[in-house]
Amino acid sequence: MKKVLAIVGARPQFIKHSVVELALQKCFDVATIHTGQHYDDNMSAVFFQQMNIPKPQYHLSVGNLNHGAMTGRMTEEIEKIIIADRPDMLVVYGDTNSTLAGALAAVKLHVPVIHIEAGLRSFNRQMPEEINRVLTDHVSDILFCPTAQAIENLKNEGVFSRKGVKTILTGDVMLDSSLLFAGYAKAPAFSVPPEFILVTMHRAENTDDVSKLKEIIAALNQLNKEIPVLMPIHPRTAKLIEKERIETTFQIVEPVGYMEMLYLLQCTSLVVTDSGGLQKEAYFFRKPCVTVRDQTEWIELVNTGVNILANTDKADILTKVDKMLNTKMDFATQLYGDGKAAEFIAETLHGFNRS
Ligand code: UD1
Ligand code: UDP
Repeated sequence: MKKVLAIVGARPQFIKHSVVELALQKCFDVATIHTGQHYDDNMSAVFFQQMNIPKPQYHLSVGNLNHGAMTGRMTEEIEKIIIADRPDMLVVYGDTNSTLAGALAAVKLHVPVIHIEAGLRSFNRQMPEEINRVLTDHVSDILFCPTAQAIENLKNEGVFSRKGVKTILTGDVMLDSSLLFAGYAKAPAFSVPPEFILVTMHRAENTDDVSKLKEIIAALNQLNKEIPVLMPIHPRTAKLIEKERIETTFQIVEPVGYMEMLYLLQCTSLVVTDSGGLQKEAYFFRKPCVTVRDQTEWIELVNTGVNILANTDKADILTKVDKMLNTKMDFATQLYGDGKAAEFIAETLHGFNRS
């Protein structure tokens, strides 16, 4: 059986890997490297437990570092494993430092790089994720794209027509996981208001600049006076709120497991976020979304009208929330495929290997 080595490290990658690994296992010998980028139990272990993801064969424990150090150390460790294991291909997901490290290590050793969630662009090179995406796409051999826009982006960069490169539209594996696990959604241990706005916020662009973070928190404090705000908080944001002593008056809870998140998504009235994954999940669960960013790589959500961008001004966030709560939405279009993207990816890879 051909050997696939998969790289995971950050929260959204565990969720994507849950369904892809399940599909790959049917026709490949799959081994996984956890880089350690996310390491708290509620940012990592909980997802392996809840989704029954097999324990990674390798754990690198490379987290809590600056970008260069993190990516460099991961690359070095992944390289050693590739040399020892000689996988037939390497799978990376999304746009984190773990993604780029895996792709760089593999391409230099001539191991085919398979990028799942390829082709997305925010066109904002200030975002570390944008650099990771562009570089990973440019060294990948097979690019599995979640949207037609992603294919267009790769055409515009000349990746689509590059000799030996395959670019394939798949739909989004996060739709697969939300469909697979929605039935297992579980109420969290804390009390959930009957009506609430669900918030997550962790992007460097919204948290590194304290004045922006303060403005976002001010908007959420204000919003909470009208309708309860519930925020499972990313450790990056929690640390900054504490360090800067920013006053919060809404409900903040520890990061929740995926099953609890699916429950909250089912119950919420609206999502306010800067997360890539949550923007789509809001849509899967037919909830309007206010995205606190200047651009989104999931542009079809904005074009359909179910998602609106807000800048970090308090007034803009409040206006956009009010607008989205009072607008009728159409969630009928299938923007992200049929929920069988992971199966399709595994079958496609299997087909390439036979030919
Ligand atoms: C990373 C990804 C981002 C993704 C996000 C998912 C990069 C450049 N960014 O951002 O694309 O959206 O993961 O959540 O790869 N921390 C903890 N415990 C943990 C994990 C992180 O305390 O388990 C804290 C540490 O202080 C760490 C900081 O959060 O330094 C940032 O973590 P890091 O992985 O560098 O970036 P994220 O903001 O999580
Ligand atoms: N998520 C979760 N618990 C939380 C916050 C997020 O299970 O407390 C899930 C969320 O449902 C989605 C994924 O984590 O599936 C998104 O990850 P994140 O926002 O960290 O990263 P991004 O998608 O922005 O890269």
